[in-house]
Amino acid sequence: MKLTTEEKEILNGSQGETMAKIMKTLVMFGDMAGAKRLVPVTHEGHLVTSFGISLIKPLFRIMDEIIDAGIKSKWQFTADPRPIDYKNVKCNVLNKLVFSKIMYGQQKRYEEQLQKVGLRKPSDFTCTCYLPEVGNTPKMGDILSWAESSAVVYANSVLGARCNRNSGMIDLFGNIIGKVPEFGLLLDENREANWVVNIKTTTLPEAQVLGSAIGMAVGDGVPFIKGLDKFLGKELDAKTCAYLKDMGAASASNGAVGLFHVQNLTPEAIQKGTAIIKTSPKHLDITDEYLQNVYNNYPVLWKNQNAKPTLCFIGCPHLSLEQLVDWTHRLTVALQENNKKKLAIRTIFTTSPAVLQAFQKKHEYQQLIDTGAKISSICPLMYTNNPIAGKKPIITNSNKLRTYSGARYYQDAEIVDILCGKKEGK
Ligand code: F3S
Repeated sequence: MKLTTEEKEILNGSQGETMAKIMKTLVMFGDMAGAKRLVPVTHEGHLVTSFGISLIKPLFRIMDEIIDAGIKSKWQFTADPRPIDYKNVKCNVLNKLVFSKIMYGQQKRYEEQLQKVGLRKPSDFTCTCYLPEVGNTPKMGDILSWAESSAVVYANSVLGARCNRNSGMIDLFGNIIGKVPEFGLLLDENREANWVVNIKTTTLPEAQVLGSAIGMAVGDGVPFIKGLDKFLGKELDAKTCAYLKDMGAASASNGAVGLFHVQNLTPEAIQKGTAIIKTSPKHLDITDEYLQNVYNNYPVLWKNQNAKPTLCFIGCPHLSLEQLVDWTHRLTVALQENNKKKLAIRTIFTTSPAVLQAFQKKHEYQQLIDTGAKISSICPLMYTNNPIAGKKPIITNSNKLRTYSGARYYQDAEIVDILCGKKEGK
C-alpha cells in the first residue's frame, strides 16, 4: 500500500511501539487484500468480539498492551451482545460452572478492558447497534471499521455505509488508528450487483428463509433483488427495516453476503436504479416451491429428532422495538384463541438494552412478561454454542442461530403455534 508520511511515521514508531504494531497489522491486512491505501473511518466503530472466552488469551494480552500504552480508540465503539445473563436466561449448576469458570471466565476483565479502550457506554452490547434507540447509526457513504456480519450487511445495504466483513481485532485496530484499508465493498465497482434475484412468490417470503436461500445461491456476491417492493412497499419504515435486518443476517450467515440492493427500497438501488447491475449478471428466480425446498432441507441436529423442545430463542439478530410489539400481539392473540395464559415452552426474546428500555415504557412489555416470556440482551449463539447447552432441544426462528448451533429452525407462524400449545414442536 502507498502510505502517507504520517502513516509511515506511525509505522516507524512515532506514536510508540504498540501503535506501530497496530498500524503494521492494518497495513499487512490491506496488502493481503490488494488495497492501495488507507482511508479515514468516518463513523463510530462496532466490535464483534464481546465475549471473555478464557481460551483466547492473546486477545486479553493485546488489550492490556493497548491500555498500558495509554491508547484510546479514535472512534468509540459498541460491541456485540454479552454471552451470559443469569437473571433472565437461567442455567443449571453445571452450565453455570462451565460458563463462569471455563468458557466466559474472562468476561468481567474483558469488559473492563473494552471500557478503557473506547466502549461508548457500559450497556452498549448488541449486534443491532444501528437501530435508532442504540444510536450507532451510520449515514450513507460513511466508512466503517466493523466486523459483525449481520451489522455489516445492514450498514452497507440499508444505510448505504461502506464496510468490509472484517475480522475481530481488525475492527478494533481500524477504529484505534481511525483508518481502514480501501478494498472490497469500500470501492464503487465492488458495490455493483453481480446477481439479479427475482422474487416470484405469491406472498411476502419469510425473511429468514429468503435470506438463507439468497446467501446459499450467491455466496459472497452482491444481489439486486427485484419484486420484494411489491410486498414491502417503497418506504424504509421500521417494519421493512426489521425485515431487511433478518433477511440480511440470514444471507450473511448462510452465505457470505456483505451487501444487497433491493429495487425501489435500499439507498443505492434508488440512487442508481438498474444501472447498479453489472453487465451479464447471474440470475436466480425465487418461487414458493424454491423456498419450501430450502426450508425442507435444513438439517435437524438434535440427537432425538422427536424430542420436545425445552427452550426457544427469538431475536438473533436482536429484535427491534417494532418486532417486540408485534410478537407480543401475535402471542397474546394466539394464547387467547387456545385458552392458554402462559407459553408452552421457556422462551427468551433477545434485544439490545436500549430497545428493552424503550419497550419497558410500552404496555406490551407487561403483556409479554405475563405470558411467562423473558427478555434478555445476550447473544443466544454464545449461550447455545457449547457442549452442554448445545445438547438441549432448542428451537428458534433465526437462521443464523440454526446455522451455527444445534438449534432447530421454525418459521414464525410455526413458532407461534408451538408456543401457544397448538402444535407440538419436535
Ligand atoms: Fe446477534 Fe449473536 Fe445472533 S451477535 S446476530 S444475536 S449470533
